[in-house]
Amino acid sequence: MDSSLIYLDNAATSWPKPPEVVQAMASFIAESGGNPGRSGHRLSLAAGRVVYQAREELADFFGLDDPLRLVFTANVTEAINLALYGLLRSGDHVIASSMEHNAVMRPLRHLQREGVHLSFAPCGMDGHVSLAHVEKLLKTQTRLVVVNHASNVTGTIQPIAEIGALCREHNTLFLVDAAQTAGVLPINIEELQIDLLAFTGHKGLLGPTGTGGLLLGERVPFEEMKLLVRGGTGSRSEYEEQPEFLPDRFESGTPNSIGLAGLLAGLQFIKSHALDALREQETSQLARLIIGLSNLPNVRLFGPRDPSRQVPVVSFTLDGMRVSDIGFRLDEEYGILCRPGLQCSPAAHRTLGTFPHGTVRLSPGPFTKDREIESVLEAVERLSAELL
Ligand code: ALA
Repeated sequence: MDSSLIYLDNAATSWPKPPEVVQAMASFIAESGGNPGRSGHRLSLAAGRVVYQAREELADFFGLDDPLRLVFTANVTEAINLALYGLLRSGDHVIASSMEHNAVMRPLRHLQREGVHLSFAPCGMDGHVSLAHVEKLLKTQTRLVVVNHASNVTGTIQPIAEIGALCREHNTLFLVDAAQTAGVLPINIEELQIDLLAFTGHKGLLGPTGTGGLLLGERVPFEEMKLLVRGGTGSRSEYEEQPEFLPDRFESGTPNSIGLAGLLAGLQFIKSHALDALREQETSQLARLIIGLSNLPNVRLFGPRDPSRQVPVVSFTLDGMRVSDIGFRLDEEYGILCRPGLQCSPAAHRTLGTFPHGTVRLSPGPFTKDREIESVLEAVERLSAELL
C-alpha cells in the first residue's frame, strides 16, 4: 500500500480495507473453499457456515428478524433492480426524490417506458427532500416510494423515519437505497419502517466489491416478486422450477462466498469499533473540510454544509477550473484521490445546478487521518490561489 496517497474516495468504495477483511478472504480460500449449500462435504459445509453467519449478522445489524429475508446480490444496483423490477407493474405509480443515483433512475426510466408512472419529489439546494412534497405526490396507485438514505453527491441525509411513517399511513411500500449509509449510520428497518433496504458491502461496511443485498421486510409480498435470475440453488435439485422459498427464490448460482467472508469481517470490524465512534471521527473531519473549504476564495460548496445532516461526503467546485482538471491535479501533484464529475447522479446535479460538469467530491472514511484533511485543504488552497 502506498502510504503517501490520500484516499478521499470512500463514497465510491472504501479503502483501505481493515486487515481483518484481507485475512478473512485469504483464510476462506485456503481453508473453507467449497461451494456453500452444494456438495455436503466438510469444505462445502464450512463455506455454508460463513455465508449463513454473514446473513445472520447482517440481518441482525439492520434489525431484520428473519435472516432468510436477506437476499445477497452482487451489489446495491442489483438489489435495487430486484426490488423495482420485482414489484412494479404497468399502471403502478412510484415516487422518488430528485437526488437519486442512476442505480434508481435508470431502472425507473426503463420501467416508465413499460407503463410505470413516475413522480419526483423536488429537493432543495441542500439536497434535502421535504416530507410535504412526498406527501403531496402520494396517490392510491402509489405502489412504492424510493429514496436514497444519503446522497452520494452531497452526503445529505434524508428524513427516512418520517417518510417510512408516511408510507405506512398510506399503505405504500418503502425502498431505501442505503449505498452511502450502510455501515455509516445506524439503520433499523423496523424502527425506520423501511420495507426494502438495498445495501452494498464495499463502502461503509468495509467489505470487498461484488457484495450487497436486499432486505425484504414483513410487508413485502416476495411471492409476487418477479425474478431477475433463475438457476441452481443447491436446494430441491429434483425440480426444474425455481424454489419459492427464501432466500433461494432470489439467489441462483454459486454465491460470492469469498466476498461474503470479507464482508462478514468488515461488519465485525465496524461492530467492534462502534458505529457511533466511527461517525464521531468522520463528523469532525467533515466539519473541518466544510469550514476549510468555505473559507477559500473561488470555492463553491454544495450540500447541507452541516456535518450533523450529512454523511462524510463533500462536493465543491472552483470557479475558473474544470472539475476534471481539479481531480487530475489533486491526484498527479498531491496524491489526493477523489471523484470529480457527475458521480453517476445526473438528477442530483440537475437539482444542485451543477449539471453537466458536476463537482469534485471528497469522501473521507474510517482510516482518514486529520493531517490528511489538512493536506487536502492546503492543496485546494494552492489551486484556488492560481485563479486569483
Ligand atoms: N456510486 C458510487 C459513487 O458515488 C460508485 O462513486
